[in-house]
Amino acid sequence: MMTNGMYEIISKKRDGLELTREEISYVISGYVGGGIPDYQIAAWLMAIYIRGLNERELADLTEIMLASGDRIPLDGVPGIKIDKHSTGGVGDKISFVVAPLVAACGVRVPMLSGRGLGHTGGTLDKLEAIPGMNVFLIPAQLRSVLAETGMVICGQTDSIVPADKKLYALRDATATVSSIPLIASSIMSKKLALGTDGIVLDVKTGSGAFMKDEQDALRLCRAMVAIGEKTGRPTLGIISNMDQPLGRAVGNSLEIIESIEALKGKGPEDIMQVTSALGFCMLRAAGIETSYAQAIDRFGEAIASGRALSVFRRFIAAQGGDPRVCDDYSLLPASPQQVEWAAPASGFIEAIDSLLVGMAAIDTGAGRRKKEDAVGYGSGFVFQAKVGDRVEKGRTIVTVHSDRPEQTPIVLERLSEAIRIGPRPVAEPKMILHLVDKDGARPWTYS
Ligand code: URA
Repeated sequence: MMTNGMYEIISKKRDGLELTREEISYVISGYVGGGIPDYQIAAWLMAIYIRGLNERELADLTEIMLASGDRIPLDGVPGIKIDKHSTGGVGDKISFVVAPLVAACGVRVPMLSGRGLGHTGGTLDKLEAIPGMNVFLIPAQLRSVLAETGMVICGQTDSIVPADKKLYALRDATATVSSIPLIASSIMSKKLALGTDGIVLDVKTGSGAFMKDEQDALRLCRAMVAIGEKTGRPTLGIISNMDQPLGRAVGNSLEIIESIEALKGKGPEDIMQVTSALGFCMLRAAGIETSYAQAIDRFGEAIASGRALSVFRRFIAAQGGDPRVCDDYSLLPASPQQVEWAAPASGFIEAIDSLLVGMAAIDTGAGRRKKEDAVGYGSGFVFQAKVGDRVEKGRTIVTVHSDRPEQTPIVLERLSEAIRIGPRPVAEPKMILHLVDKDGARPWTYS
């Protein structure tokens, strides 16, 4: 009987028909409970991959996945709480800049983050570069750090959306990861588990992004915004550019240093553009009426007064880390070897392929190939030039910091593949492409 039920549900979706909430609930609870075998769920996932889900089915799937696990209520923490989520990229350290900035403007920022796997770095790994930093918090500790400092960043436990953990492993083995409704329900079920008042999404597009195609990124963002709004949480998203690494640093300690520099008012232009766009969306999700120009003024004041850096210092200390790293970068792990990659020709930088840079970063020791791999916290890259810059032959473009000197020839080769220099001037890439909110998507026009 149970098998017949599943057989019919698979056939319905295979034929492009709409599933009821009861049918979706039957699938998820049966799978989590062990009553439905992997092979039937795999067929169901493939049917969704091909046929998709409508808005109602997607909201139902997300809510049912969310209900498979625990939630972390934040009611006891005073103030408005807004989460920011990025779909991941190379050099993406925006959380460390935007969270203290927005917290310094009076909005609390709790985030459940992940580790790096493959070419993208992980927020938790970057934080663990700070001596003593603890990213394993129980919900009571999470609430207390958030209440005390205005921000908190920690890992997510296995009890949050267990259905996603099981489904994701199966999707990974059945070529069904890259389905927009499956990605949207996976991400949003985990976001909704945290009791925030609103959610802001940074969906990246370009060579180093999960969604390489801009229109796919837009579809994913719209689907996630619709889920958030349907469940009663103000949700906004941006589509941002991940064609080249964000900022100048790639790698754990190196990105922490760049983030602290940004909080001291010395952040690279692209980092500050993405930070400002997301911070503006976070203030809006918090119900603060502000123009973009007013938001920028508030962030400028939070940096100039030192309040944003002070939030970051208190957050580090509250999670057991050494806040002195904000003043003395030598307290952060450093790699034993530094090597330069120099421009092979004079000209203009046309491209820095972030997927290839992310892969090269793994070879320096900064990332993992397998979940069990150790991370070299001091490893990675510092770029001296970015797309659009004019460079002279022989000038250093990248400083490679490596914990794995034996891999350096491969790293340098990968960089040669990633960085393209041409004879003609190249425009600086546009960082923010679209804004998505409850009224729909439109091109990003703020500056
Ligand atoms: N990240 C997630 O959390 N889930 C997906 O399905 C893809 C990316």
